[in-house]
Amino acid sequence: MQAYVFQNINELPFKTEINIPEIQDNEEIVEIKASALNHRDLWITKGQYPNLRFGTVLGSDGCVTLGGNTFIINPGLNWGTTEKYQSDRFKILGMPDFGTFAEYLHIDRTYLYTKPTHLSNEEAAALPLAGVTAYRALVVKTQPEKGEKVLISGVGGGVALFAMQFALALGCEVYVTSGSEHKIEKAKELGAKAGYLYQNPDWTKQLISDIGGVDVVIDGACGPTFNNLVKICNPGARISFYGGTQGKIDGLNPQLIFWRQISVFGSTMGSDLDFVNMLSLVEKYRIKPVIDCVLPFDHVHDGFRKMKEGTQFGKIVFSH
Ligand SMILES: NC(=O)c1ccc[n+]([C@@H]2O[C@H](COP(=O)([O-])OP(=O)(O)OC[C@H]3O[C@@H](n4cnc5c(N)ncnc54)[C@H](OP(=O)(O)O)[C@@H]3O)[C@@H](O)[C@H]2O)c1
Repeated sequence: MQAYVFQNINELPFKTEINIPEIQDNEEIVEIKASALNHRDLWITKGQYPNLRFGTVLGSDGCVTLGGNTFIINPGLNWGTTEKYQSDRFKILGMPDFGTFAEYLHIDRTYLYTKPTHLSNEEAAALPLAGVTAYRALVVKTQPEKGEKVLISGVGGGVALFAMQFALALGCEVYVTSGSEHKIEKAKELGAKAGYLYQNPDWTKQLISDIGGVDVVIDGACGPTFNNLVKICNPGARISFYGGTQGKIDGLNPQLIFWRQISVFGSTMGSDLDFVNMLSLVEKYRIKPVIDCVLPFDHVHDGFRKMKEGTQFGKIVFSH
């Protein structure tokens, strides 16, 4: 079968012919109809990911067929027994196990979930990793209430857009930041009340003057400007972060956090139960993933380049 294999750091995955893997007990060989890119895949090619294994087929997201039925895959393997955190055996499909940038995949059937009927194969492939990450970071960790003000930072990202869509579905007022006016306008078209350019040093003052502050913040960037997210928090606010694209948090102001009784959560992926609940939310509100582009399987490298440039708004999907 054709597959994109991670062969060297600082090189895009190499398209090559490999054998269809042999299956073990409880596993199935599924045919991949569509897959989607996550920032994780890019971190792996840059060598910025733990436990890298050369020769691995990349890709965590997939919409697949088996026996005439269509499924999506929960890419969070071996979550474990407590809802609070993942087990020591937790791993994500597509490193070290073979992933979805291939024609076929061997997967334990417990990770296959019936595709929501309102989604196309490409839309369904866009959902799993970013969807479950957004669900846990927003719904499980911050427990947003109807009418609360929620800020989604870096709204152009895959996880960020799902967080925005879930917050809107739950009746929250959503505000966004982005590095691009164009992305802010697109977020407003989807239901955000207002947006702020995070490069503008005065954006926090502007937000405070516009709406006073926010009750929930969802962030995937962190970095030296994380303090800005604390500044705009109302008393009792919750901040949940799932990524650190901008690096370490410098100069965090503890006084603001304890005086305003702010809770800060770290969040990663989600449990099997989170995945089921995320799917229920998506089906109940007929949420459709925001897709930046659908590229043919032969053009996987174009998807990587686009994510590196950061010009996308939503998920980059591959049709197999
Ligand atoms: N812990 C987990 O389980 C988990 C799961 C998924 C992803 N992640 C991590 O979360 C991050 C995002 O992943 P993704 O797949 O959603 O990536 P993505 O689709 O490539 O999105 C990255 C986004 O980061 C935003 N950004 C860049 N600089 C920013 C800044 N200074 N302030 C705020 N936002 C900024 C950009 O927003 P604009 O385009 O709007 O400027 C961009 O869209 C990555 O670091 C990834 O590794 C973690």
